[in-house]
Amino acid sequence: MTSKPGSPFPSGFVITTPRLRITPLDPTNEAHCTFLAHLWNTDLFFRSCGRTSVLDTRSASDFITTRVLADYARNKHGMFLVSLQEQDPMSLQPIPIGTVSLLKGAPPNRHYLAPDIGYAILPEMNGKGYATEAAKELIEWAKAELGITGVFGFCDARNLHSRRVLEKIGMEFRGIAALEMFGGAVSAVCTLPGMSEDLSVYGLTEDIRKE
Ligand SMILES: CC(C)(COP(=O)(O)OP(=O)(O)OC[C@H]1O[C@@H](n2cnc3c(N)ncnc32)[C@H](O)[C@@H]1OP(=O)(O)O)[C@@H](O)C(=O)NCCC(=O)NCCS
Repeated sequence: MTSKPGSPFPSGFVITTPRLRITPLDPTNEAHCTFLAHLWNTDLFFRSCGRTSVLDTRSASDFITTRVLADYARNKHGMFLVSLQEQDPMSLQPIPIGTVSLLKGAPPNRHYLAPDIGYAILPEMNGKGYATEAAKELIEWAKAELGITGVFGFCDARNLHSRRVLEKIGMEFRGIAALEMFGGAVSAVCTLPGMSEDLSVYGLTEDIRKE
């Protein structure tokens, strides 16, 4: 199977869970771009993650080209589309419901040495366990296929649903820190079990206070 231009993943690459499909984002796929623009412009997304440069199909395609494909090329992981296994009866395509990501920054920007898990699910699909199912499986895939052992989970301490997802996928709460990578945003810091007590070994040198 051949890769799409700019993507290290073979055509047809998919990570599956009982209910979901996790697939690479493709800047030339209009359905992917339209969906990302829709998801990232919901009130729920604005409230928890703020506004982004992704405003419409075209800016979503630019974002996937410049940011997502660059992450794939650099790390072999990044942001993925989450779709239901069941197909849309009209288009016969899986129905997109969100994104799940393992993101790691790079120099010259502030970055940590372990990726962090992230997710966004359409508001009308919340509360069904989809973010938990997708995040858990992406981490399992990254452990098995990429040999990743350290993963961070960061979220605004007031984002109780996101915090609950981190708990449900088995992450351990380590404390609260103002994270330079996110412009000093105060965040709950969680890690996979088994990671070093000393988070500076992963490049996280900010002060961590227990809640
Ligand atoms: C955070 C987010 C991804 C959760 O997605 P989700 O698919 O609803 O998550 P899950 O169903 O796996 O679990 C979330 C927890 O919050 C609860 N929850 C989520 N939506 C809920 C709702 N509308 N009403 C009540 N509880 C809700 C769930 O019940 C669950 O806890 P529980 O299993 O103890 O009941 C989603 O709300 C979202 O996309 N928010 C905007 C983006 C965001 O905040 N991303 C994280 C940035 S760090």
